[in-house]
Amino acid sequence: MKNARLATATVLTAVLATGVMADAGAQPTSLMDGVYTAEQAATGKALFEQNCSTCHNADYYKTVLQTWRGQPLMYLFEQVMSAMPADKPGALMDTEYEDVFAYVLQIVGFPAGETRLQYAGGSMEDIAIQPAP
Ligand code: HEC
Repeated sequence: MKNARLATATVLTAVLATGVMADAGAQPTSLMDGVYTAEQAATGKALFEQNCSTCHNADYYKTVLQTWRGQPLMYLFEQVMSAMPADKPGALMDTEYEDVFAYVLQIVGFPAGETRLQYAGGSMEDIAIQPAP
């Protein structure tokens, strides 16, 4: 019984994730495609060290990416904007959260590219979360 319910939940999650991507009207972009710039990650490093690194490290983010796999990056970004840093939620500017995300993507092993990671404009909705390489 427990397994059957688990299987149903898995299928439902897959259907929901597919629906989200279909609504976005585009093929999802992969985190391997270079969705942030190296410059952004360099800026993000200092912000990360000031605001995030006391509570979690790269290994933690790898686990989070596993948990969120298949979901749009935008959902995780919005979650972090509203809840982190846990002791000062929403304390950073949007562009600072973007830079912190760029740095996190870099330390878990995703490549940098030519395009800035940006919240405004909604492109993050088309980026699918996947486990770290
Ligand atoms: C004071 C400690 C603390 C700081 C500072 C902090 N976090 Fe967190 N973070 C937590 C805790 C505790 C959780 C787990 C919350 C939960 O699971 O309910 C968490 C969860 C998360 C998650 C997982 C969210 C999810 O729903 O899966 C992410 C991603 C994250 N933090 C990113 C960040 C980033 C980025 C920063 C810096 C801007 C940051 N955190 C700063 C304590 C902290």
